[in-house]
Amino acid sequence: MRDKRLKKEAFPKLALALVGNPHLAGNWGRPLIIEIGAGKGFFSVNLAQLYPHATVLALDAKPPRLWYGATLAENLKLDNIRFIAQDAVMLEEMFAPEEVDKIWITFPDPYPKKRHIRRRLTAPSFLQSYRKILKPLGEVHLKTDNEAFFDYTLEVLRLEGVTPFIVTRDLHASEFLNEETGFKTSYEETFVGQGLKIHYLAFRF
Ligand SMILES: C[S@@+](CC[C@H](N)C(=O)[O-])C[C@H]1O[C@@H](n2cnc3c(N)ncnc32)[C@H](O)[C@@H]1O
Repeated sequence: MRDKRLKKEAFPKLALALVGNPHLAGNWGRPLIIEIGAGKGFFSVNLAQLYPHATVLALDAKPPRLWYGATLAENLKLDNIRFIAQDAVMLEEMFAPEEVDKIWITFPDPYPKKRHIRRRLTAPSFLQSYRKILKPLGEVHLKTDNEAFFDYTLEVLRLEGVTPFIVTRDLHASEFLNEETGFKTSYEETFVGQGLKIHYLAFRF
């Protein structure tokens, strides 16, 4: 507990960490890649290394988790990544219309209860935000271990008239595995260790 509190306090002091709602909409830099629900943020650190000319933003509603990735990125002296403690419901205030090139959603909380459906990061209200902030032909990529969440997402996309250009229920055995998709998030390490298959899809609006 003590450890957690310390990290929470340290978070805003890290140069790469932003808390609240930074007024940078329209000025984040391009190309712009964001990860929503980034957790510890190591996947975003990998994105920043893979795409040194892009700006990468790791967003999570819970700042203590981001502390790990922010510390790693500072140690690696990365200057193209930021860690933002913010809820995804604020996306339309954080970004100008058509500002974002790519959105990654990695192992989102599945929120299995019916009364929590609106919190799912692929619920129609979130898709509406993604549609607004993504540039034309911008992409959304999703990885999850949770089959029910994956099926829910496919159904929402169908109802929205969106056809994914990638759908696989076993990413790590698929042709879609590469140095971007294949980098394992912290949750993914655990799920793969348990023998779970990683579901992956990507779409454009
Ligand atoms: C299951 S964890 C996965 C973390 C990380 N992506 C990984 O794979 O290791 C889901 C994360 O999403 C974050 N989250 C859930 N709803 C969110 C929201 N509306 N906005 C921002 N982050 C959210 C949680 O705080 C949590 O850190």
